[in-house]
Amino acid sequence: MQALAEARANIALVKYWGKLDAALNLPAVPSLSLTVDALTTRTSVRFDPSRTLDALFIDQKPADPRALGRVSRHLDRVVGSAAANARMFAEVRSTNDFPTAGGLASSASAFAALTLAAVAAAGRESDPTKLSVLARQASGSAARSILGGLVLLGVGTPGQVDSSFATQVASEGEWPDLRLVIGIASEAPKEIASTDGMNQSESSPYYAPWTSSAPADIARAMDAIARRDLPALGAVAERSALRMHACALAADPGVVYLRGPTVEGLHAIRKLRARGVPAWFTCDAGPHPKALTSPEDAAQVARALAEVPGIQRTIIAAPGKGALLLDGQR
Ligand code: PMV
Repeated sequence: MQALAEARANIALVKYWGKLDAALNLPAVPSLSLTVDALTTRTSVRFDPSRTLDALFIDQKPADPRALGRVSRHLDRVVGSAAANARMFAEVRSTNDFPTAGGLASSASAFAALTLAAVAAAGRESDPTKLSVLARQASGSAARSILGGLVLLGVGTPGQVDSSFATQVASEGEWPDLRLVIGIASEAPKEIASTDGMNQSESSPYYAPWTSSAPADIARAMDAIARRDLPALGAVAERSALRMHACALAADPGVVYLRGPTVEGLHAIRKLRARGVPAWFTCDAGPHPKALTSPEDAAQVARALAEVPGIQRTIIAAPGKGALLLDGQR
C-alpha cells in the first residue's frame, strides 16, 4: 500500500504552449524535451485505511491547501475518487534536490514521481504510456518526465483523454553529448502560472500561427536528433522558445515572463555563439535563461551566464533517466 518513486525535470526544446482541450489537459501543439539528470523529485505515497484526509508534505513541511488539493485531485484521477470511497486517503511526502521556492519548474518532476508512486502503491498495472497519460492530466510537461532522454509529447484528439502521451525519441544513453545550462535568475515577483499564461495566450494574434508552425519545428528537431546534429537542434530550440514568448507577449493583456537577466542571458549566449561556441538559448514560463550546448562547452557557457547581472548560480544538466520506482509494496 506504499511506494517511493523518483523523477527528474525536463526542459522543452520545442515548447508546449496552449491547450486543445482544457478539461482533459490535451496540448494544442506537439512538444519535444530533454529529461535532465539534475532537479530530481522523490515522492512516497502511503494509502492508509485509518486516514480521514489526504496529507502532503513538501520538503518535510506541510504543504499549503492549494498544493494538497492538486495532489488529492491527482490521486482521485490515478486510483479513483476518495469522496466516493473508491480509494483510501494517502500520506504523500515529496522532496526536491533543488529549492522549490526558486521558481524552477517542479511540476514536471513532481507529478511524474507522484503518478508512478501512486499507481504502484495502489497496486495498479501500468506502462509508460498509461503513466504518461495520467501525469499529463496534472501537468502537460509531467507526461514527458515519465521517460528519459529526448521525449516527444503528441497532441491527441479532443475529447479522448488517452490520445496524448509521451514517447521516447532517443534514450539518455543514445545521445549523451548534450548539456543544458540553467541560469537561476534572482527571485522575481510571483509569475503567471503556465495554465493561465496559456489561456491568456489564446487572445494573441500570433496564437494560430504559433500552433500551426509547431509541427514543422518538431519535424526539424526529429531530423536533427536522427543526425545527432546539435547546431540544427539548437537552432530549432531557440526559435521555438522565442516564438512561444512572442505569442505570449502579444496576448491581450500581454504575458511577460522575460526579465532583465533572461534577456541579457539570451544576448550572452548569442555572443558566445558568434565567437564559435555552440550554445542556443531557451526559456520557459519563468525568468531563468537556459542554454543547450555540448559537454565540452558547458563550463564556459555556465561562466558566461553566471556573469549576467541577476543570475545567482548556474546548473549544468546532462540527459537523465525517466521516472523510477525505488520501492513499492502492497
Ligand atoms: O506542464 P505545464 O502545464 O507547467 O506547462 C509547461 C510549459 C512550458 O514549460 C513553458 C513549456 C514546456 O513545454 O515545458
